[in-house]
Amino acid sequence: MTCVVIVGTQWGDEGKGKLVDFLTEGADLVARYQGGNNAGHTVKFEDQSFILHLIPSGILRNKMSVIGNGTVVDPEALLQEFEGLQTVDISVEKYLKISETAHLIMPYHRVFDKLREQAQGDNKIGTTGRGIGPAYTDKVARSGIRFTDLKNPAHLRNRLETLIPEKNCLMKYFFQSPVQFSVDQIVEEYRGYYEQFKSFLCDSSLLINQAIDNNQNVLFEGAQGTFLDVDHGTYPFVTSSNTMAGGVCAGCGVGPSKIDKVIGIVKAYTTRVGSGPFPTELLDDMGGFLRKEGSEFGATTGRPRRCGWFDAVLVRQAVRLNGLTSLAITKLDVLDKLETIKMAVGYQSADGKTHTELPPIYEEGMTPIYEEHSGWQCPTKDITEYDDLPKALIDYLNRMSELVGAPVSIISVGPKREETIVSDPDQIWA
Ligand code: GDP
Ligand code: IMO
Ligand code: MG
Repeated sequence: MTCVVIVGTQWGDEGKGKLVDFLTEGADLVARYQGGNNAGHTVKFEDQSFILHLIPSGILRNKMSVIGNGTVVDPEALLQEFEGLQTVDISVEKYLKISETAHLIMPYHRVFDKLREQAQGDNKIGTTGRGIGPAYTDKVARSGIRFTDLKNPAHLRNRLETLIPEKNCLMKYFFQSPVQFSVDQIVEEYRGYYEQFKSFLCDSSLLINQAIDNNQNVLFEGAQGTFLDVDHGTYPFVTSSNTMAGGVCAGCGVGPSKIDKVIGIVKAYTTRVGSGPFPTELLDDMGGFLRKEGSEFGATTGRPRRCGWFDAVLVRQAVRLNGLTSLAITKLDVLDKLETIKMAVGYQSADGKTHTELPPIYEEGMTPIYEEHSGWQCPTKDITEYDDLPKALIDYLNRMSELVGAPVSIISVGPKREETIVSDPDQIWA
């Protein structure tokens, strides 16, 4: 039995979906522990391409897939995902389970997400607009609605009758919007969802812990990335959940002593969607090159991703915050054509001070201190053996690993399952 956590080490979109799909071959159960349909996890195999937002990517391999209690679920978006899976004959009825205590994204959460962003003008976070922040806000304020609250119509109505007047007051007096939410309408809509989802609901902590007790291999699929974590990310430009590996314990009801391996997914360069600090961002042609070669457009919103060089300071912090046991490096093929490749090893602030950690409040004007590496300038996507990788690429990986303080276990040279090289199998299911 092994419990493996997959976590993004940067600002999301590192290729978690691809790696989860790859590793699911050896897993018995895959679970999401935080986030919602703000995530977009791309999986490509044969001629097919899937983007999963909430359902664990493991479902594409017909493995038991669990949406844990720490996630926030938009029922309408989930039904759309069901439709997508039907087209490839994946049985959600057979393979999907949803925590009965997962919180729901309500119609007012989506509306507030957009209105709050508009109200912030230039200071906006650049959210995905899916209602994630407002749903987690209500969860922590103890004003959330969970799947289990849908069971009894009188209970649901009672809760909404307390909550909705406050929401409507905000709409009318703060946002000056004519839109008002109706308890009757929401009760009807969400009771309908209950009927559609009731057979999927379970005590997900019990289910996952039973799998662990039965010596099954369990994979936890992180969403977003370490620097979007609400506690340890570039606050306030973060998402509203604990994206880091520690989130598994609260978000799936699994004790920390059960986790064996934590694999950090590292893009060979850096990207970010939305606002916030990004020390190695490239606003020049090189940024455009990475965006084009890496097809760096959001899997959820289609927004162009901001692109920049690999930042070893950031990933070293991710190694510490997540207790990473190894790294999976993705998108190395995107760098194939480059003569030289840079990586940041520190930052210098305007007063000349050197920083080897990303400070909690990022100072504008910090410039990265770069190291330059020779590129390999040859195609890599058809390479299947570690020993066949170009020497310059291996040097680049070794330097990354040395700077961030964790070994490399997996190398990804393309979006498909077979474009993956395992360099250290002992770091995975063993
Ligand atoms: P996630 O959110 O971490 O799952 O990542 P996304 O799916 O949002 O974005 C990663 C993108 O890179 C997807 O389009 C993947 O198909 C693609 N991808 C993943 N690994 C590789 C790789 O090694 N090389 C290339 N070229 N593309 C990759
Ligand atoms: P995956 O799992 C990249 C970003 C948004 C925004 C911030 C807050 O595909 O890596 P939110 O809607 O969560 O309130 O937005 O977080 N963001 C992501 N960026 N990948 C993601 O998920 C993201 N999920 C949220 O762009 O900056
Ligand atoms: Mg993504």
